[in-house]
Parts: sequence; structure tokens; C-alpha cells
Amino acid sequence: MGALVVRVAWAWLLLLQLAGASHVVYRDFETKAAATEKVPPSIVDPLLRTGYHFQPPKNWINVSSKKRISCIYNYIWCFVLIYFLSDETAAPMYYEGWYHFFYQYNPKGAVWDNIVWAHSVSRDLINWHALETAIEPSIPADKYGCWSGSATTMPDGTPVIMYTGVNRPGVKHQVQNVAYPKNASDPMLREWVKPDHNPVIVPERDINATEFRDPTTAWLAGDDGHWRLLVGSAAEGGARGVAYVYRSRDFKEWRRVKRPLHSAATGMWECPDFYPVSRDGHTMGLDTNRVCGKCRTKVKYVLKNSLDVRRYDYYTVGTYDQKDERYVPDDPAGDEHHLRYDYGNFYASKTFYDPAKQRRVLWGWANESDTRDHDVAKGWAGIQAIPRKVWLDFSGKQLLQWPIEEVEALRHQPVTLKDTVIKAGEHVEVTGLETEQADVEVTFELSSLDCAESLDPALAHDAERLCGARGADVEGGVGPFGLWVLASANREERTAVFFRVFKVAGSDKPVVLMCTDPTKSSLNPDMYRPTFAGFVDTHLSDGKISLRTLIDRSVVESFGDGGKTCILSRVYPSLAIDKNAHLYVFNNGEEDVKVSLLTAWQMKKPLMNGA
Ligand SMILES: *[C@@H]1O[C@H](CO)[C@@H](O)[C@H](O)[C@H]1NC(C)=O
Ligand SMILES: *[C@@H]1O[C@H](CO)[C@@H](O)[C@H](O)[C@H]1NC(C)=O
Ligand SMILES: *[C@@H]1O[C@H](CO)[C@@H](O)[C@H](O)[C@H]1NC(C)=O
Ligand SMILES: *[C@@H]1O[C@H](CO)[C@@H](O)[C@H](O)[C@H]1NC(C)=O
Repeated sequence: MGALVVRVAWAWLLLLQLAGASHVVYRDFETKAAATEKVPPSIVDPLLRTGYHFQPPKNWINVSSKKRISCIYNYIWCFVLIYFLSDETAAPMYYEGWYHFFYQYNPKGAVWDNIVWAHSVSRDLINWHALETAIEPSIPADKYGCWSGSATTMPDGTPVIMYTGVNRPGVKHQVQNVAYPKNASDPMLREWVKPDHNPVIVPERDINATEFRDPTTAWLAGDDGHWRLLVGSAAEGGARGVAYVYRSRDFKEWRRVKRPLHSAATGMWECPDFYPVSRDGHTMGLDTNRVCGKCRTKVKYVLKNSLDVRRYDYYTVGTYDQKDERYVPDDPAGDEHHLRYDYGNFYASKTFYDPAKQRRVLWGWANESDTRDHDVAKGWAGIQAIPRKVWLDFSGKQLLQWPIEEVEALRHQPVTLKDTVIKAGEHVEVTGLETEQADVEVTFELSSLDCAESLDPALAHDAERLCGARGADVEGGVGPFGLWVLASANREERTAVFFRVFKVAGSDKPVVLMCTDPTKSSLNPDMYRPTFAGFVDTHLSDGKISLRTLIDRSVVESFGDGGKTCILSRVYPSLAIDKNAHLYVFNNGEEDVKVSLLTAWQMKKPLMNGA
């Protein structure tokens, strides 16, 4: 769930319709149609639509009463993922190993109160098959909305879904419901039933019922036989984000633990996620349910919240005291939100434990960075980032993220560049492949940090402002160096993904900035082109730093230094479309930079929900 603001906008449209003011609605569509005429032709080019990033099967529907087209907004909020696989007590269907992906979807465009759970399945998290709607409003407890939720796998292997329902008109009364598969023998889990005892959690009087949603995957802790889950909320008039803990033996009767698991003065917490990670650099994931008492010392916990006010996903690493039912971040200042999964366009994410590959997988939603008129004109909006494996860095201070290995099956036509020095102010084109849909891995080698710029202390804690002030075209000492992707032949269009190294007086640890600069990404006017940036926690002790960038027509998804810092950006070139997209390595610093190895692959198109 998310975008309350957007929903309010839909509510406004709905109100107009309910009021029977059909001419007003009609005018609204006309305005949209008129605005659409001003949309640059390149924006509606189908070749800007992503190919190997998850996207829904269709994004358009006819508004039958008006015979006009209206955009379906893909409100993909924290969705749920279930994985099925053999389990000790499992029935045969679990051997088939299907990944299930549910996401929030509005199949009726302007009708705001009809958010449903769309459903797709995959064997590899890359090739997707769309199925029929899984959950839609059908009972009093969700009559006004089926919002986000999570799935939990029971010890016998069957799944249970908990989700937020709205049971009074408007958005003001959010409750939590439960749903079960109708036919557990159907590996596709097409149909879900909602028992009559819904809702199973209602907001008590001290909870703001307008801000009470997005139940997490439930977990067992200790031997008390109780499931726990979190519900995201806000207190103190919206100033404080809160994760309430509820406990149950049977998913029917839930009781709130008096004190929340955690809370902080950040504003509303949406889409909370809470899970264990192994310490000591183990990349293996942990099942939320299977953390034994003895192993607890080898485990840390991650609490992630989606911050409604900022529209970004922040997390902390800490410890979970199951007796007290409390979580404490290791860094006392952690709640001030230094750590984000992604420093770009990435929200309402959720992880799940994948028992097939014993890994934790993170999914996040990326909206468009164009305008709503553009979305209406192009007919699609909203994608998913490539699923990422996540684990705790050896330092214990942050997570590492890496695209799931399955995406590598799409690679072909590899091209390499070896031991190539990029001199100050120079660039080198990578040729021999088409780069509008590509996977690029590069390792840079720096011979010296002597001419690194000094860091302006005023910007030392604000990567985004630093990147805004020292963009890709501002010459530096060590860097900016990196990639120009989705570049036109003459490079008047290009999106820069780069590093810039600073030195800090009195410290031998450099400050490394990673940045995506889309300010030149399109010749189209009026594009929203925010620079996105994060710091990379590295000493650069071997003089090397790596970058991986997944390019998919209008998305540039980058992983710095082995996944320490990630940035997803949406860009909409007007020239660098399809075969006209070029790829370069550039260096705008004084110090030469060596590309010790660059490998670039073209990417094949997977099955994508029939699109
Ligand atoms: C949508 O409208 C178009 C053009 O008016 C029409 O050809 C098409 O059949 C309609 N589709 C549906 C699903 O109503
Ligand atoms: C349940 O699903 C299985 C497998 O798809 C199917 O063979 C069976 O007929 C289904 N049962 C019912 C009652 O629909
Ligand atoms: C409850 O949340 C809504 C939405 O954020 C807010 O407008 C309202 O003031 C809150 N109510 C209280 C009593 O804090
Ligand atoms: C979506 O895009 C707009 C810019 O078009 C941005 O302001 C907004 O914060 C974005 N993110 C989310 C999660 O809504």
C-alpha cells in the first residue's frame, strides 16, 4: 500500500462520478486528451517500454461509458511473494517450484476504490505468466479496498495471506484480513477464500485507523507456538512511524503486544519488513521462521520501512529481543535514515526467503519519472526492479544486494574491454553489441588518490546534494569516472552512472560518491530528471572499484562496489532509443583511470505476462 495522495486524487475523480457530474468527468478526460497531444512523440515509442523488468500484462482499458481511454495506474505496493517447494510434509504440488508474485493493480482506471491483487507465476523470477486476479473486494471486511499484505508459509507448507482491507467508505478504516488457498492442490493457487471471521485485526481506539496497514510475513519465535507479525502505522498525529506487533496461535485471533516492536520520529511507516540475516559475511538467507534459539547469536535483524513522507525505503540493522518483543538498531542514529536499499527510484519493497536457493530476495517497485500525461499517453506506468539477493555485509553495518543469478540467463553477445586506460577528459565507446537492453560489469583501477578533491564539509552527509553540485560534467580530481548509458551517437543525450572520490582532512579513508546523473538523458523538455546518489563505504585499499549496470530502455539500475550502494533511475531518451543507444566509459577527472575489465552483454527478452 502506498500513495495515499494519489488515491485521494482518484477519490476526487470518483466523487465527481458519484455526484453524477458526467460533464465534469468528461471534461477531465478531454483535458487529458488535450494534454496528451503535447506529449513528445518519443515518449509513446513502445521501444521505451522495459523488456526484462517485471511489468503487468496490460495497462490500458476503455472507459466504456465515455468511450475514452483511461490509464490504469499500477499501484504496485509492498506485494507478496510466496515460493513453493518440497517440504517434509508437503504434498506433490510443492515439487513444482513456482514463484508467485502478487501486486496491487487497479483494473478500472479512474475508479479508485477497486484496487485488487493481480497475480503472476514464474519458475525463475524472470519469465512470468499472468494469472487471474487473486484477491478483490468481496466481503464486508474489504468492501472498500484490498490493499497490501504478505504471505506466510505454514509448517505444513501451505500458504496464508494476511492483507489490509478497508471496511468503511473512504480510506479511513483499515483492518487486517486473512485468506487461504481454495484448492491447495492447485500449484498456481488461483483461487483464494476469505473466512467469515474476517477482519481478524481491527484498530484499537488508540490507533489511527487511517494509518494502519501492510501486515508482514508472520514468524514463530521460541517455543510458545505464537505467530507474530507487524502492522505499519503512525502515532503522535502522524509524526511517529510505528511497527505494532500482533500475536496469534491460529491466524484467527490476534492480540497486540502492548509496546510496538519499534518506532521513530520519521512519519508513517508503510510496508514494514522484518527478517533475520546471517552475520560474518554469509550470503545465505535465513527463513524468518527457522532461526533456532542457539543460532541467534549468529544472526542480526533488519527492519525496513517505507517512508510515506519521503517515498523511499529505509532500513536499519539491529537485534531482536523476542522475550520483550523489541527491536533495537545497532546504530543509535540509524532511525535518522542513513541507509536505503536504493538511492534512486525504489519504494514499497519486500523480501521473501527462497528455500530453493537458500537466499533472501528483495523486490522493489519503481514508478515513472515522467508526468502523468505522459503515462496516460504511453499507456503503461510502474515496473519492478530486478529481484535482488540481499545479505549482510561482513562489516555488519549494511546490506549487500546483487541481481539474482537467473537474470544472467538472458545475457548473450558478450563484449569485453581489458586493461584500457581512460585518460583525463577522455571517453571510449563500447561497441560490438546493442546496448539499449544490456548488462554491464566493469572494474576500475585507480593508480593514485593524490589529486582527489577535498570534500566540502557542508555536503559531507548529503550525497544527493553533493551529486547535484558535482554532476558528471563537473571536472574533478579522481573522477567523475563511469559509464554513459543510453547515449545518442553524438552524446547529446546520455545518462551518467559514475563515481567521484574525495579526500577528507585528517582521515586516510576516502569518501566515495556514487551517482546517477540523468540531466542530459533526454532532449525532451519538461522531464523530471533528479540526480540520485549515495556514498560507498570503502577504503579503496586495492585501488579498485566495481560497477554493474542493468540497462532496459527506460530504466538504469546500478550496483556499486559489489552491491554496497544501488541506484535505480528512470530515463526517457528521445534519440537514444533502441538501436540508436550507445555505451561509453568516460573519465572527467584529472587522474587517469584504468578499466581493468569491462564485460557487456545484450539481454534477451523473457516471457513477460504475455506482453
Ligand atoms: C476499446 O476501444 C477500442 C476503440 O474504440 C475498440 O476497438 C476495442 O474493442 C475496445 N476494447 C474493449 C476491451 O472494450
Ligand atoms: C484442485 O487443483 C487440482 C490441480 O490443479 C485439480 O486437479 C483439481 O481438480 C482441483 N480441485 C478442485 C476441487 O477444483
Ligand atoms: C490520522 O491519520 C490521518 C491521515 O494521516 C490524519 O489526517 C489524522 O489527523 C490522524 N488522526 C489523528 C487523531 O492523529
Ligand atoms: C514517483 O515519481 C514522482 C515523480 O514523477 C516522484 O515525485 C515520486 O516521489 C515517485 N515515487 C513514489 C514512490 O511515488
